[in-house]
Amino acid sequence: MSYIEIEYPSEKALFYEVLKEQTALYIGDETDQSAVLANASAVIAQAFPNANWIGFYLVDGDELVVGPFQGKPAVSRIGYGKGVCGTAWKEDKAQVVEEVSCFSGHIACDCNTHSEIVIPLRRADGTFWGVLDMDSVLPGHFTEEDRVGLEQIVKLLDTSDLRKNKFK
Ligand code: SME
Repeated sequence: MSYIEIEYPSEKALFYEVLKEQTALYIGDETDQSAVLANASAVIAQAFPNANWIGFYLVDGDELVVGPFQGKPAVSRIGYGKGVCGTAWKEDKAQVVEEVSCFSGHIACDCNTHSEIVIPLRRADGTFWGVLDMDSVLPGHFTEEDRVGLEQIVKLLDTSDLRKNKFK
């Protein structure tokens, strides 16, 4: 499938409708978790030109390990409760950070980053399995509307039930 450039609406509700359609389109009926996250990070990156890092950290024991992403090389592992990502895990709650230098314990991967949003990934039964992490070069780039919109998008990404059904 060749990628078709999309003009994203500036109005947030519409923006997230289009982003949801695009994410679903590029997931298709894929059941491989890495493939789904890789394409999701690419679709989201196209929609956020001011984001400099878009990707996933996935639960691995008592750490998060980096998954598919778009952006500069990043830290591979983040402990439970560490940085913005580990805090989202510990608090089981999205983090919207207007200025990362003001977030105590923030783990810097790119010195150009000013703001960050981290959205928990939860399975249908509520189990936490990772986070979507996005950084921006602009201060205060991510808003509560983005949190609400991205929480809907990440619901599309868990393939564990699909894999179970496939091999039943
Ligand atoms: N800033 C994150 C670390 C990952 S990078 O942003 C890609 C954190 O504090 O958890």
